[in-house]
Amino acid sequence: MCGIIGYVGHRTALPILIEGLRRLEYRGYDSAGVALASPNDVTVTKSAGRISALEQIIDVESTQTTGLGHTRWATHGAPNDVNAHPHADSSGRIAVIHNGIIENDRALRTYLEQHGVTFTSDTDSEVLAQLIAQLYDGNLEKAVRQALHEVSGTYGIAVVCADEPGVIIAARQGSPLIIGVGKDEHLLASDAAAILAHTSQVVYLGDGEMARITPNELRITTLEAVPVAKEVEEIEWSLEQIELAGYDHFMLKEIFEQPAALENCLRGRIDLREGTVHLGGLVDCARELVRAKRIILTGCGTAWHAALVGEYLFEELARIPTETEYGSEFRYRNPIVNEGTVVIAVSQSGETTDTIAAFNEAKQRGALTLGVVNVVGSSLARGTDAGVYLHVGPEIGVASTKAFTGQVAVLALIACFLGRRKHMSPTAAMQFITALSQIPTQVARVLERADDARKVAEKYQQRENWLYLGRGYNYPVALEGALKLKEISYIHSEGLPAAEMKHGPIALITEGMPVVVIATAGSQYEKIINNISEVRTRGGSVIAIATEGDREIAKMVDHVLYVPDTLEPLQPLLTAIPLQLIAYHAAVIRGCNVDKPRNLAKSVTVE
Ligand code: F6R
Repeated sequence: MCGIIGYVGHRTALPILIEGLRRLEYRGYDSAGVALASPNDVTVTKSAGRISALEQIIDVESTQTTGLGHTRWATHGAPNDVNAHPHADSSGRIAVIHNGIIENDRALRTYLEQHGVTFTSDTDSEVLAQLIAQLYDGNLEKAVRQALHEVSGTYGIAVVCADEPGVIIAARQGSPLIIGVGKDEHLLASDAAAILAHTSQVVYLGDGEMARITPNELRITTLEAVPVAKEVEEIEWSLEQIELAGYDHFMLKEIFEQPAALENCLRGRIDLREGTVHLGGLVDCARELVRAKRIILTGCGTAWHAALVGEYLFEELARIPTETEYGSEFRYRNPIVNEGTVVIAVSQSGETTDTIAAFNEAKQRGALTLGVVNVVGSSLARGTDAGVYLHVGPEIGVASTKAFTGQVAVLALIACFLGRRKHMSPTAAMQFITALSQIPTQVARVLERADDARKVAEKYQQRENWLYLGRGYNYPVALEGALKLKEISYIHSEGLPAAEMKHGPIALITEGMPVVVIATAGSQYEKIINNISEVRTRGGSVIAIATEGDREIAKMVDHVLYVPDTLEPLQPLLTAIPLQLIAYHAAVIRGCNVDKPRNLAKSVTVE
């Protein structure tokens, strides 16, 4: 999705902006641009396509010390040079970059046209630039404030003006902005990755807040001009974590980071002596949570798949009726939220619009809202009543991998936290957390056999249709495996509960069609073996994910990828790994851009 970077200070802005834009590339974009402010004018340079295209047309000699940069992911208007950000007003003295959507842009555009403004782009964002210019009387902050009172929709914006060259005005409503604090300089970004090379000291702008930023001063107010006191916080991520560190792709790096990421996620939360789980983020609401009559887990895409594993975990371990809802469905269908309903939003970024909207809806209806989120300080993390961070480090690859296992691990911890306070015996809890504590080492063991997954990908990469089957806890993993494959290799793939296959999808099976079946040891093993034979009888090629030591299965299928044995509820943490690897290698072999798949963005901040 769109990305924002801004700089005001004593250094030349352009290289800092370009570097920031590069670090935002992973979010997905189709055009990019910069605006540099000097007392004479605001120079805007922008281009469709990659940042390298922008670099070819930019004046590298620019010495301005105030500027804005933007990567755009088109929503209103085609991804071309004209619609790229920044947008300047007709006089060229004010420039704006904007993330989000202005909902009343048509009405504002008509009003401005009636007052003689000629628009050059199709975007809702140009409306902001023109409106601010109309209202400008020598005070940029005042003009932006007045303009934002006329606007409905979501925005993270930054504005510069030739008449106030050492100033950036920023404002936020529903689209993240953080301000980096340096020595005699400030940075502004929609994502910590863009500024981490310069500072880890940040101030999070809240919804309905504005900032006036100069090299030496940061003043935050509400839209109504009431001053807001803010603390400077430390970003816990390091620069190395957002770099490739020798890997070909972020996705591969993040797959291989999973043992360490899960170790981090579990650290300090599992108490093997007491046989219990400590979750500091839930202590204050533990009583209310334990009394929950119903839990609704909500999320999108991969996070929804993790939530579905959570549903099974919560019902089995804590015996609380639980359901999993897509954020986009929950928000619009007049959901029932009774007393005792707890809503848990699951999200890596904490910025997914549909998930945030679902959670806001739940909050308005009086539910206790919790977040299972990775990005500290994100909109969801700040808006929930309580929550548990994933602590798996930054996820840059568009295809979510370590966030999925982190989400499942956190949901397993919460399920045990609740279970132990309800019906779960100390022995059962001890067995569960002991198995959970072994998962990072077991994931490392799966990764040692990564080459087996590569061979499978190599063999079947030309097949355009794949099926993924699983039962019980591994049904959501089948969905996740299919999503991984389709989103980065553009191979059509479907995930199904294995038993559903014979209610229709079995008609798809043709000679040699790859069918990935998660057939690990457990209560439904015999059933899934029957499903394997149904596939084989119809000529399908079966790739089984099986438990180490299961030699028999090798005689029944075409390929086996082994994972260590663990408790059934924890199997998704292991069975997901070979599926991530198959998807990764299939995409690489097919020449796809793994970290920037077509049409996709890292964090989906539009409906
Ligand atoms: C798939 C993927 C997406 C995200 C979804 C939710 O690999 O990454 O399906 O899981 O867009 O994103 P978050 O977790 O940031 O809310």
